[in-house]
Amino acid sequence: MPTITEKTVREIAIENPASVRVFESVGIDYCCGGKRSFTDACAHAGVDPLYLATLLDETSQDSSIEDVACWNEKPLADLMAYIVARHHAFVRAEIPRIGSLLGKVVDKHGEAHPEVAHIEQIFVAIGQELGTHMFKEEQILFPYIQRLEEAAESGAPLPSACFASVERPIANMVAEHDDAGALLADMRRLSRGYTPPPEACPTFRALYLGLEEFERDLHRHVHLENNILFPRAIEMEKAAGR
Ligand SMILES: [Fe+2]
Ligand SMILES: [Fe+2]
Repeated sequence: MPTITEKTVREIAIENPASVRVFESVGIDYCCGGKRSFTDACAHAGVDPLYLATLLDETSQDSSIEDVACWNEKPLADLMAYIVARHHAFVRAEIPRIGSLLGKVVDKHGEAHPEVAHIEQIFVAIGQELGTHMFKEEQILFPYIQRLEEAAESGAPLPSACFASVERPIANMVAEHDDAGALLADMRRLSRGYTPPPEACPTFRALYLGLEEFERDLHRHVHLENNILFPRAIEMEKAAGR
């Protein structure tokens, strides 16, 4: 059995769902950057691997993270329904709410804090990109994966599609996740880790809190897709002979 230092961040996040909180606490990207080895990820984040391994060991018995647990076993249809109901709905609700907070903070504090206008531009771009991205998942990719799973279960022929293999649209979705991840990282850098200035008003503080929660949710959302849903769909399609 490989030791923790021989595993990738993705493998650890799947085996121990509670590990995502530990990774988040030290700034390790377990979704888009999940293919990195544990040792590399620690070096990149400037964290002692021994310290992190101990923390992970302590949380391995934590079953309180219901949202990323057990999805390796459950039907893909249930996982996709969960992603849409929880994460896509969250993105759709938060984009106008955070957009409105950004407008207010730029109006009132934009002169003293020009970084907020820059964050607003990035957030508008993320909102537009995610809107199209989720539409493609809900209208094309997820329905195909659902039909694929139904065919695999019943032994029926594989569903027809406008692509030769599910790997093609999945590669597009993963590339879009990487783009969104890079934009999130830019916002984090510009806001100094979402730290409001000492004199910040409640709206300014609510904005940075909202952006930080948006980032955390998107990381979990992308983790479920990149590390669980997509690999399982590719494997299912291959097993069915496409
Ligand atoms: Fe999604
Ligand atoms: Fe996605």
